[in-house]
Amino acid sequence: MFDKWFQRKKRSEKGGLTFVQVPRHIAIIMDGNGRWAKKRGLPRVAGHREGMNTVKKIVREADRLGVKILTLYAFSTENWKRPKDEVDYLMRLPEQFLKSYLPELIEKNVRVMVMGDESRLPEATQKAVNTAKEKTANNDGMILNFALNYGSRKEITDAVKGIAEKVKNGSLVPDEITEDIIENHLLSCHLPDPDLLIRTSGELRLSNFMLWQLAYTEFWFTDVYWPDFNESHLHEAIQQYCGRTRRFGGVVES
Ligand code: IPE
Ligand code: IPE
Ligand code: MG
Repeated sequence: MFDKWFQRKKRSEKGGLTFVQVPRHIAIIMDGNGRWAKKRGLPRVAGHREGMNTVKKIVREADRLGVKILTLYAFSTENWKRPKDEVDYLMRLPEQFLKSYLPELIEKNVRVMVMGDESRLPEATQKAVNTAKEKTANNDGMILNFALNYGSRKEITDAVKGIAEKVKNGSLVPDEITEDIIENHLLSCHLPDPDLLIRTSGELRLSNFMLWQLAYTEFWFTDVYWPDFNESHLHEAIQQYCGRTRRFGGVVES
């Protein structure tokens, strides 16, 4: 059902018949792992382990649908506040994920990217992440962008510092600071803004995620916990997105 609808939608786009395109860049705040585990009487880390399987499932489906960029919020700059055991587990997850999944990503022509302060990640995690980035650097299929130790306020603060430095050394004058210049100093500078943001687990907030980049993004929230999120939920989000009118402050004739 969804597949037929989706193919029709894509074809009509090519024919220039519709204003609303299928999302090129989907960003997901993967939330609710802890509550998923608690509901089952399991430790929180069991939710993170199950959440990793959801990541695989959703990466596969996004790739199959032809999504160009999938950004996944995996660890925030605020998540360091959690108990050490949980942080340690979360820090090891990227390595575990890549150990079992990198061959498939390579096979699928997916390019792995990371957005965030990698310097604070354990050495083994940095190594695994760098290997994945290197081995997929020439892939030109879907971009799988992990927000890892990412915080939007830190990202913006660092951008401001970078720009201030350029003004100080004379390579830039304040009048030349445009939105493009600011964007070029963000960690996402090589990516277009997300078209669709999904947050699971019923929380209706951004939790310091891509504050600049989400200015005109369409939001879709679900009560489903991330480990229970599946292909049908992704389809529902995409279908709802396609039914919206993005005006970007202008007027769209219907
Ligand atoms: C999301 O699930 C994963 C991370 C934030 C790393 P949570 O661990 O936040 O799960 P809840 O929100 O406590 O249920
Ligand atoms: C946001 O979820 C961060 C990630 C999904 C990685 P949190 O669970 O940390 O957000 P809050 O604390 O509920 O806002
Ligand atoms: Mg949470």
